[in-house]
Amino acid sequence: MSTTRRIHVIGIGAGSPEHVTAQAAAAIAQVDVFLVADKGESTDELVALRRSICERFVPEGREYEIRAVPDPQRGADAPRRGEAYTAGVRNWHAARADRYAQEIASLPDGAVVGFLVWGDPAFYDSTIRVVDAIGERMATEVTVVPGISAFQALAAAHGVVLHRIGEPVHVTTGRRLVEQWRRAAKAGIDLGTVVVMLDGHLACRELVAEDPDAEIVWGAYVGMPQQELRRGRLADVIDEIVTLRARLRERHGWVMDVYALLPTRTG
Ligand SMILES: C[S@@+](CC[C@H](N)C(=O)[O-])C[C@H]1O[C@@H](n2cnc3c(N)ncnc32)[C@H](O)[C@@H]1O
Repeated sequence: MSTTRRIHVIGIGAGSPEHVTAQAAAAIAQVDVFLVADKGESTDELVALRRSICERFVPEGREYEIRAVPDPQRGADAPRRGEAYTAGVRNWHAARADRYAQEIASLPDGAVVGFLVWGDPAFYDSTIRVVDAIGERMATEVTVVPGISAFQALAAAHGVVLHRIGEPVHVTTGRRLVEQWRRAAKAGIDLGTVVVMLDGHLACRELVAEDPDAEIVWGAYVGMPQQELRRGRLADVIDEIVTLRARLRERHGWVMDVYALLPTRTG
């Protein structure tokens, strides 16, 4: 009879070990094998971050392993749109699930598996979908522990409420921002505050002409020692943010940033 595999999907917050919650720490303490995607060159950093979290939160004397699993090649989905993009990502998740399932099947019975997920697993992260797909391949019992997402850390760092009173928050990616902003404006739909993640190009630059008075609340490496924050009228601060972002990328070799756009106050 095949055993049911226990899997913890653990949100570890947006980069500061201080973001690890008591619930996350308790889950980390139960894991025997942490699986991490082996993405070639950038893997050392991914493993190092996870190792430092484990060193801090795994109780002394408890043995555990961090195992890198070769990540399947992702299709050339960047230029794809709509359904072709989604299908490409789905195939990639299926290939990942196959590899993880193989790895998990090779572990001793009773071994608890953990995935340490950046931020919160519910936002722009594929781990839960991949773990669901693993569950289609073998019996699993999955626990998800929420984490502090980058945009929560951003709001806290700036000391702001993300939305105006009673208004909504729309969370999206740099890839979709401009199209969604314009479509909503055309249809007279109020998106409220728009939170943008995964935006390597600061797509909000394209919106300056049509909404110069929108307010941007921006942060890079939020919660980390290199943290940089800027806030102001979009038209006034965007050039500084673009220049700063490029400089930071050069200085640190990588940059992760997130921002919120608060639409122009009307009334
Ligand atoms: C793959 S998504 C993962 C999001 C993550 N699950 C979360 O809840 O924050 C990565 C994006 O999150 C944002 N991000 C994550 N950590 C960040 C940080 N410490 N500072 C700024 N942005 C961050 C950036 O927009 C980055 O492109």
